[in-house]
Amino acid sequence: SQIPVITIDGPTASGKGTVAHRVADKLGFHYLDSGALYRLTALSALRRDTDLADEHALAKLAEHLQCSFQGEHILLGHEDVSDAIRAEVVGNTASKIATFPAVRHALVGLQLGFRKAPGVVADGRDMGSVIFPHAPLKVFLTASVAARAERRYKQLIGKGISAKMEDLLMDLQARDDRDTNRAIAPLVPAEGAHVLETSNLTADEAVEQVLKWYAALG
Ligand code: C5P
Repeated sequence: SQIPVITIDGPTASGKGTVAHRVADKLGFHYLDSGALYRLTALSALRRDTDLADEHALAKLAEHLQCSFQGEHILLGHEDVSDAIRAEVVGNTASKIATFPAVRHALVGLQLGFRKAPGVVADGRDMGSVIFPHAPLKVFLTASVAARAERRYKQLIGKGISAKMEDLLMDLQARDDRDTNRAIAPLVPAEGAHVLETSNLTADEAVEQVLKWYAALG
């Protein structure tokens, strides 16, 4: 179809969420936070005490997710879980269950459904490589582990949540290893992706670069 897609992939805390969101706002596009779908599945599993090794049961949860996105708010059933899904334990569980092919497969249709006029900005790990391989603009955001740990640290402190830098560094490294080395849909720049190193860029500078690339498509 002709509905434009901009994919923004990258590691944890690379700033892709912020950048993707702002690009979507500037262009008036829809926004797909694919990580939230893995987080919602993880939250459901944790609450139901689903065996985190049971690929089939997890895929069923993913397939029947009752979620909706209302602006900044993410609902699971009728409950606003926007904050609950950001917990570290949920993120870690998400990255574990995301290694199961059946779970990934179960979430494909939901993700494709976000492609609606006038366009969508899709943020995740495999948006350009697997979900929207024909996207006209693909971006891969990177930043050093140190820069990402610092951003995460400021974010948490800003929310009044206490955090230790060493813990954050270790956590990021572990998550990177899992996301990069998994057999299915590993985190790698998609073919044709523009790589944007953001360690020394503000979010606004990164947004500007993405908009420039988009404008250059004509
Ligand atoms: O981006 P976010 O940190 O919210 O994603 C949570 C986890 O979900 C990631 O660590 C990753 O393992 C998984 N994920 C994925 N594919 C995506 C988005 C997220 O495997 N497209």
